Amino acid sequence: MTETLIDIKNLVTSFKTPEGPLRVLDDVCLTIKKGKVLGVVGESGCGKSITSLSIMRLLPQPYGFIESGEIIFNGADLTKLSTNEMESIRGNDIAMIFQEPMTALNPVFTIGYQIGEALEIHLKLKGNEKREKSIEMLKMVGLPRAEKLIDEYPHQLSGGMRQRVMIAMALSCNPKLLIADEPTTALDVTIQIQILELMKNLKNDFNTSVLLITHDLGVIAEMSDEVAVMYLGKIVEYTTAENIFDNPLHPYTEGLLNSRLVSIQRGTKLICIPGMVPTLTCKPKGCAFSPRCSKCMDICKEKMPELKEIKPNHKARCWLYN
Ligand SMILES: Nc1ncnc2c1ncn2[C@@H]1O[C@H](COP(=O)(O)OP(=O)(O)OP(=O)(O)O)[C@@H](O)[C@H]1O
Ligand code: SF4
Ligand SMILES: [Mg+2]
Repeated sequence: MTETLIDIKNLVTSFKTPEGPLRVLDDVCLTIKKGKVLGVVGESGCGKSITSLSIMRLLPQPYGFIESGEIIFNGADLTKLSTNEMESIRGNDIAMIFQEPMTALNPVFTIGYQIGEALEIHLKLKGNEKREKSIEMLKMVGLPRAEKLIDEYPHQLSGGMRQRVMIAMALSCNPKLLIADEPTTALDVTIQIQILELMKNLKNDFNTSVLLITHDLGVIAEMSDEVAVMYLGKIVEYTTAENIFDNPLHPYTEGLLNSRLVSIQRGTKLICIPGMVPTLTCKPKGCAFSPRCSKCMDICKEKMPELKEIKPNHKARCWLYN
């Protein structure tokens, strides 16, 4: 059996507000195995980024905090580590790539300086050795003319090239877990495919585990082994990628699948999920999806269903199966 790398247990992340703590993540349980990709999908605002920022302990300050739960990584509970211990984990064991590479790249330093800095901190490389390794990393992520590129500035590169540089930086410490938060959303489709291929190869070559956050089910289908579907801070379905696409159980997952742009053919109507995601401050009573669900029953408006294993390795949070 594949070993577990990170085990998130009953995570509750909240924001401090004048009215008291507001739950942004509610009882989130996720497991990522070594060398596997867990995709997290859901509409805007469902808590995907807050999940990754909770793992990294980089929640918006001063109001974001982990209220309860555990994040067990390599035997240690990340929620209990000191700031220094966490900094070391962030640099060495867990790396993150963001949707917009410019948030991670500094416009006033060359590409070589920035990769070199990461290599110096994590691998203690200096001088020529550092430069050689930086060039090697740029080549590894498929960047052409790496020897020249190393002396250029971020603004001289295209969006796809910057994304590759950021991946090279994230991988410079050979992390055990790579968190990719919407890594390809800002890119053209052809570049998107190249970046996904690159991440796949790296996963296969280095046995890196990936937490892949996206609202794009096409990206999930391409990359993930397992998938968690989130709605308003809770996991509503959690199973293998195959099950999500071939045998979805939750009406919200069905809605996401039906509204996929890739399913459009000329003349067919795009089906969208009616209504909007409610705000965290106005969560409906009972199942949070009930105001938008065509299968809503009386009980759905009264009580929130539990996330239950409906079939082997297939969990859903829905009264249809209770
Ligand atoms: N810095 C912040 N300050 C205040 N509220 C925030 C902040 N970041 C996130 N939130 C709120 O927390 C909830 C979860 O947000 P999160 O960013 O995790 O959503 P997401 O699933 O990543 O959405 P998206 O697809 O738009 O990136 C949302 O209600 C959002 O408005
Ligand atoms: S619990 Fe009820 S309202 Fe919620 S998704 Fe299931 S059927 Fe729809
Ligand atoms: Mg986000």
